[in-house]
Amino acid sequence: MSERPAGRFITLEGGEGTGKSTLAKGLARKLEAAGIRAILTREPGGTPLAEAARHLLLHPPEGEAWSPLSEALLVNAARRDHLEKLIRPALARGDWVICDRFADSTRVYQSVSGGVAQSTLLSIESEVLGDTVPSMTLVLDVSLEVARERRAVRAGAMDTFERRPEAFHEAVQMAFLAIAEAEPARCRVIDAGQSAEDVLEAAWGEICSLMGGQQ
Ligand SMILES: Nc1ncnc2c1ncn2[C@@H]1O[C@H](COP(=O)(O)OP(=O)(O)O)[C@@H](O)[C@H]1O
Ligand SMILES: [Mg+2]
Repeated sequence: MSERPAGRFITLEGGEGTGKSTLAKGLARKLEAAGIRAILTREPGGTPLAEAARHLLLHPPEGEAWSPLSEALLVNAARRDHLEKLIRPALARGDWVICDRFADSTRVYQSVSGGVAQSTLLSIESEVLGDTVPSMTLVLDVSLEVARERRAVRAGAMDTFERRPEAFHEAVQMAFLAIAEAEPARCRVIDAGQSAEDVLEAAWGEICSLMGGQQ
């Protein structure tokens, strides 16, 4: 009996404007072209309930704000729904899942902006994820200036996170790099200051290593 190859779970992390969404689409295209079924999804979001939670998080009612811990719990409630209804079933079918932001973003944003203790965030994370940890996390690294330019170019209204001051974006980027350094087996830092095509090639090289040494 031939066994279906296990799906892989790839997460993309980094600050706003680093190029995660652009890379996610490129990777999904490349996987499909290689004959691998890939689901492209994002966090917070990915399922109807989680997308509703995303809206509450990014666009709270006028004059209202989530406390740091309630915000962390809200994104984790959304994540659990996403895992149960979309990510785990896809991986079980043998599909790959490309997720634009995942648990590292909660570690970063809820500690940098909210001041929730890392130990609290990690304990919630481990309860919510169980065994479903990313096969590989690509951390996009780009200078603050370039990220700012890319955010400015991007059309649309800014959300509550994008409006934060420059020091906030710097703290976010440093926190992502610290995670990558602490977990080198899972994380790969990608130089996201290159052209979109070169970023995709660099990421694809890392992905190929997950397909069984075709790199
Ligand atoms: N490598 C790149 N070089 C130049 N521009 C890029 C690159 N990657 C993304 N962009 C552009 O920068 C903006 C932000 O990219 P996006 O993928 O939305 O970032 P993120 O999802 O990390 O916030 C978009 O306008 C996008 O087209
Ligand atoms: Mg994006």
